[in-house]
Amino acid sequence: MQYLEIEPDQKPKGAVRISGAKNAALPLLASTILSKNSIDIKNLPDVTDINTMLKLLGMLGAKYDKHTHHMSIDGSTIDSTKATYDIVKTMRASILTLGPLLARFGHCEVSLPGGCAIGSRPVDIHLSALEQMGAEITIQDGYILATATDGLKGATIIFDKITVTGSENIIMASSLAYGTSTLINVAKEPEVVQLCEVLSDAGVDIQGIGTDTLTIVGTGQTLLDMKDFAVIPDRIEAGTYLCVGAITNTRMSITHANSTHLEAVLRKFGEMGFGIEIEDDTITIHPTKLILPVHITTTEYPGFPTDMQAQFMAVATQSDGTSVIDERLFENRYMHVAELNRMGANIKVNGSVATIENAPHSLTGTKVMATDLRASSCLILCALMANSTTTIDRIYHLDRGYENLEQKFRDLNIEIKRKRYDKN
Ligand code: EPZ
Repeated sequence: MQYLEIEPDQKPKGAVRISGAKNAALPLLASTILSKNSIDIKNLPDVTDINTMLKLLGMLGAKYDKHTHHMSIDGSTIDSTKATYDIVKTMRASILTLGPLLARFGHCEVSLPGGCAIGSRPVDIHLSALEQMGAEITIQDGYILATATDGLKGATIIFDKITVTGSENIIMASSLAYGTSTLINVAKEPEVVQLCEVLSDAGVDIQGIGTDTLTIVGTGQTLLDMKDFAVIPDRIEAGTYLCVGAITNTRMSITHANSTHLEAVLRKFGEMGFGIEIEDDTITIHPTKLILPVHITTTEYPGFPTDMQAQFMAVATQSDGTSVIDERLFENRYMHVAELNRMGANIKVNGSVATIENAPHSLTGTKVMATDLRASSCLILCALMANSTTTIDRIYHLDRGYENLEQKFRDLNIEIKRKRYDKN
């Protein structure tokens, strides 16, 4: 079992390069199920979730040649329609194969994703939308059995809740459906926008890209002539590394980022007193005399992202006052609070609201445990400000979404050691 060991009082220096977005690459890889040809993908993040999706697509029959940050993949060779539990249980985003498989083949079996640390995360909206497109769906032995013998039919679908992967699944399904679909209350995250742009470049008629209403003219099960693309920068990785500068109140930069995807986050840094300087794809954070407390409510894009909530909670422990965070998207996304309080933070949770009393420089290094991907990065942030050494267990969470973590921190002049417990 591996763990991280982080010495205290380390300040960043210089700049770190941001990788491609995991949450853009995952639906884009799933969309190759709809492709009739091989394509090249650039700026791929080198994280375990991508390898898991490729393992799944390979099991379905896709052929690919993967390098660290780029690859070629041909989905036209796919000849299986079963996404098995052993893969799906390791990555919920496997559900993104459901829409494309059903649209292309008229049937598929996809394991239900289990719950996860941050909440039950049902897929009921994905399934009801596919039923509105003519699919017959039953749940048997933990699997979603879906059939649409004559293919999916275009439909007008109103999403009861804004769901990122739910929108992505139905956008892909609509692309190969018979007839036109109108999708209302669709997620507008940059990752959803890039999926629409790649499908549009492949010849799908999609109107309203970037808005909450999409009109998609399906090809009637004709496979797509997909074009090469480069994955957009990871806005959550970008925000996380800017939090390194914020929590240590030290000037640093990130490069290869897209600041237009981070407006709500950059504004919150400003509210806390930090200076933000943008020059092309480089964003620099500047220190502030006093880190001001912050009020955050997580909402769907373009609001403040839930995936940045834990990281800002860490920064808030260094602010001069009481910060308040309201987590509106997931019912259990405060697993990191207990760990932060073990480090000496003073955080109280009441329902969806967390109150963080200021505790500048009063965090104590200790043994803590990562509970989910973004909570893990919040623990690293706090470890940088602790007054003694911190060790972080269960770091497989981190490797799912943060590429080459130790090297990137080393690029910022911060040493994070990855160690392994002795067998005995
Ligand atoms: C995506 O998850 C991201 N994952 C998550 O990032 C992110 O936290 C989340 O969107 C919210 O932004 C990927 O893109 C791979 P949702 P997703 O469906 O699509 C409820 C990370 O750290 N809901 O937008 O699963 C759901 O329970 C991960 O990279 C239903 O009730 O999230 C939640 O309360 C963590 N029924 C809300 O909607 C459904 O059928 C938003 O979930 C679907 C969702």
